[in-house]
Amino acid sequence: MRRPLIAGNWKMHKTVRETLEYIKSFRELVRDVEDREIVLAPPFTALWIAGHELAGTAVRLAAQNAHWAESGAFTGEISPLMLKECGVTYVILGHSERRHIFGETDEMIRKRLEGVIGAGLRPILCIGETLEEREAGRTLEVLGRQVQAALQGFTREDLRDLVVAYEPVWAIGTGKTATPEQAQEAQSYVRKLLADLGGKEWAQEVRILYGGSVKPENISDLMSQPDVDGALVGGASLNPETFAKIVKYA
Ligand code: 13P
Repeated sequence: MRRPLIAGNWKMHKTVRETLEYIKSFRELVRDVEDREIVLAPPFTALWIAGHELAGTAVRLAAQNAHWAESGAFTGEISPLMLKECGVTYVILGHSERRHIFGETDEMIRKRLEGVIGAGLRPILCIGETLEEREAGRTLEVLGRQVQAALQGFTREDLRDLVVAYEPVWAIGTGKTATPEQAQEAQSYVRKLLADLGGKEWAQEVRILYGGSVKPENISDLMSQPDVDGALVGGASLNPETFAKIVKYA
């Protein structure tokens, strides 16, 4: 059975002070949630304090990216080892904003994945097509390329904690959520790709999240789809009450 995972990606939002205020209220709001996993991904500067404030709760911490090396001459980057020390469990990799604004390539994302797995952290690999690609009927082809490029060369054992997040680029921050059927179509295809790579049994264990304009109003319908195992939430995770509502979807 795949345990639902609801993750909040804060992107470049919230100072240390704002993080403290958020967590003080959020941890009370989700105190009795048991049957699903809750993850918060604050910016790097707030990770340490967030880890400190979430200790003893069931809420886990994610980073929004990681470099592949433990240390070195990589100005502006953060290593998996540094994240581990801050209490991080998950690392988001290949987010569409990393790919499209900062030019991260499939090859870079594969290397980052290697670093994250090597450090014993759990990757949340983001994939998704642009509007142009969808309109050209290339959605499944793009997902196939992204999954294969990122996961080639890893064993099933390497990928035992893998989480995949399907985030159609046209749905991110636009208010245009994919329909539950669109999410299901893409995500069942991703599971098939995973089965081809690592076997059916393993693919059945991997959680596949949906991301892109998830809100309290649409989470239940999305989660009712068989291959939607959770959500990666941007804007609606910035307010603790709103995000708690999403976490507590019926
Ligand atoms: P929004 O929920 O703001 O559309 O962002 C989705 C996202 O990019 C999460 O990683």
